[in-house]
Amino acid sequence: MAVVLGIESSCDETAAALVTSDRRIIAQRIASQDEAHAPYGGVVPEIAARAHAERLAPMIEAVMADAGMDYGDLDAVAATAGPGLIGGVMVGLVSAKALAMATGKPLLAINHLEGHALSPRLADGDLGFPYALLLVSGGHCQILRVDGVGRYTRLATTIDDALGEAFDKTAKILGLGYPGGPAVERLAREGDPGVVPLPRPLVGSGEPHFSFAGLKSAVVRAKESGRFRDADLAASFQQAALDCVLDRLRVALDHADAMPALVVAGGVAANQVIRAALEQFARERGMRFVAPPLALCTDNAAMIGWAGCERLASGQDDPLDFQARPRWPLDPDAEPVRGAGYKA
Ligand code: KG4
Ligand code: ZN
Repeated sequence: MAVVLGIESSCDETAAALVTSDRRIIAQRIASQDEAHAPYGGVVPEIAARAHAERLAPMIEAVMADAGMDYGDLDAVAATAGPGLIGGVMVGLVSAKALAMATGKPLLAINHLEGHALSPRLADGDLGFPYALLLVSGGHCQILRVDGVGRYTRLATTIDDALGEAFDKTAKILGLGYPGGPAVERLAREGDPGVVPLPRPLVGSGEPHFSFAGLKSAVVRAKESGRFRDADLAASFQQAALDCVLDRLRVALDHADAMPALVVAGGVAANQVIRAALEQFARERGMRFVAPPLALCTDNAAMIGWAGCERLASGQDDPLDFQARPRWPLDPDAEPVRGAGYKA
């Protein structure tokens, strides 16, 4: 049984966790920076990096103390090495390098997306490869085929905004603050999803990619028209986004070899309406549906520690001069998508 320290600092959560190869989270701590970024309506990289630098070392000490462990008890040190905001990533990665160096234990430079991609296997010991993964967060929006540790095939990506980003922008338009996803979901419960006519970008297209920019612009126009209640806007947006997700998923899976399970990961997987719809979608296709517990969906260090355990078990580790990578696609061979701005 191996114990791996996981460190996450790629966006606005500072987190550390101790995870074992037999799927136990021995200790974990997480500090959100929501309040620091709220006045700006989004994450400010410089503020994020400074906050990680201030909080991470004491947090690692606290996690070790929570577990009653010494650094010598670790089998490896894992940290997010990208993709993400480079200042924050470097704080976590350099901390991990220092610990690996001092303890003489392996360093694991983890792709944050691999953390999300493998997190369902931490929660569910029965989930084997391959599986279809819908990865939907603030920065990422992809459908992947996961064949093993380090073996990812991208089936679809977004040509503009990520799904979580669309939720965050809608929240901003409706004056709900940041982070927006949970606030939009809450307000949507009081609204009617059929009231505001909104587009479903790319629905019906034979390519499985996503697009949410046009949906966001339509929400802006609907809000400015003054004709709709905010709750109806929130509910109609959520429904339109969900319709896009289900249609895109259908196209992606129809084009791919059959997979026994559908897995959702990333912050948007915390949305109960989307989760329920995905569960039904999977059932109709005869697929098992796996969604990690909410705390494992949004950014956390347990998923980084777990990805470390998986990579350690498959005999992989990384050199001490490993470079932080602000951009780091899970499937480097995937063709660029026409019209796409960068999304990892
Ligand atoms: O995975 P995550 O914590 O960070 C990234 O790697 O981006 O995802 C955060 C994203 C944000 O865009 C947030 O608004 C969205 O996930 N999110 C939600 C919900 N909870 C978080 N979106 C919709 N409904 C939710 N309940
Ligand atoms: Zn994430």
